[in-house]
Amino acid sequence: MKCIDEVPEADWSGKRVLVRSDFNLPLDGKGGVSDLFRLTQGWKTIEYLSGRGARVICISHIGRDPGESIEPVARAMKQFGAVVFVPDVSGAMAQEAAKAMKDGEILLLENVRRDARETENDETLARELAALADIYVDDAFAAAHRPHASIAGVPKLLPHYAGLLMRDEVKAIDAARAPQNPSFAILGGAKFETKAPLIKLLLEKYDHLFITGALANDVFKARGLLVGRSLISKELPDASILNHPHLLAPVDVTVENSAGQASVKKPEGVGPDDKIVDIGPDTVALLAPCIAEAKFILWAGPTGMYEKGYLHYTQALAELISQSSGQKVIGGGDTIAAIEATGISKDGLGFLSTGGGAMLEYLLKGTLPGIEALT
Ligand code: 3PG
Ligand code: MG
Repeated sequence: MKCIDEVPEADWSGKRVLVRSDFNLPLDGKGGVSDLFRLTQGWKTIEYLSGRGARVICISHIGRDPGESIEPVARAMKQFGAVVFVPDVSGAMAQEAAKAMKDGEILLLENVRRDARETENDETLARELAALADIYVDDAFAAAHRPHASIAGVPKLLPHYAGLLMRDEVKAIDAARAPQNPSFAILGGAKFETKAPLIKLLLEKYDHLFITGALANDVFKARGLLVGRSLISKELPDASILNHPHLLAPVDVTVENSAGQASVKKPEGVGPDDKIVDIGPDTVALLAPCIAEAKFILWAGPTGMYEKGYLHYTQALAELISQSSGQKVIGGGDTIAAIEATGISKDGLGFLSTGGGAMLEYLLKGTLPGIEALT
């Protein structure tokens, strides 16, 4: 995988470069976007290419197919630089716009998933997209687990490079696949059945793996405890996970009863009317020394139902992690959104990945279809 900054800078001038970004930003429902993290991270590549005279044609998906218009993202991009939105994916309007570009200009094409051929990885769409440009750059790490036309198809047809963000993401998560010891990982989220292989891998590679979020409920249930109204997966962890010496689970939990009242209980004290919504203070105290001594920290998944306002312990962990001097990689699912919701500074939190599912899949497999296509 060759990165754009390995190409002689003068070579970019006048080239039409199709940049596949992941600008799948949350929409605010009022014609805008509610979070700029992926855009801030992805802008570096666009700026790099445009600043060297390339004609930058950006493309991304937003939402699930067929999806909404990506125009709100184009409006948000204008805070960073001059961007022209072209409400077409690969048809006559996109072709005309690409042809008329001047050096350094930036276009954003319409949501690529509005063309059904994108998710089908259809070669005819890949050809139409490739025809817009001389060079292809993939900066969409967060979508690299999708074998779609703009990700896996186009690089077969054009000279291709990784963008700066793609390069940084791969480097950071490669480091997380071979952590320096002592190492500490946090894995949250739901659906144990989809995360079991990753849990097994992290138990092997990390000195401690703390399982949190709804996955911890599965651990409690598998240990024979009552979990009340808590979210539970279809499958439960087996003895090889439950008895693993590297496994850490919450030693206290925040529960909400059906009247909406929250309290902290020991896992053994959870009753039929309780719903586990977060960890508790004793768990934070248990984890504090692991965080303090770790040379490498991986964090994927908030501790609780942050979208319901249960943010306190995610914030407590984020504060401890900011104070640690180890290397840190954070991402996967809603972790960054949860940290942003706490309002704490992201400085000191190390590398923040734009990847949700892509990060977890890359952690497990060490490759993804979009990365394979670049190598
Ligand atoms: C994400 O938000 O995880 C990526 O943009 C991929 O989106 P998808 O899950 O809809 O393919
Ligand atoms: Mg996803």
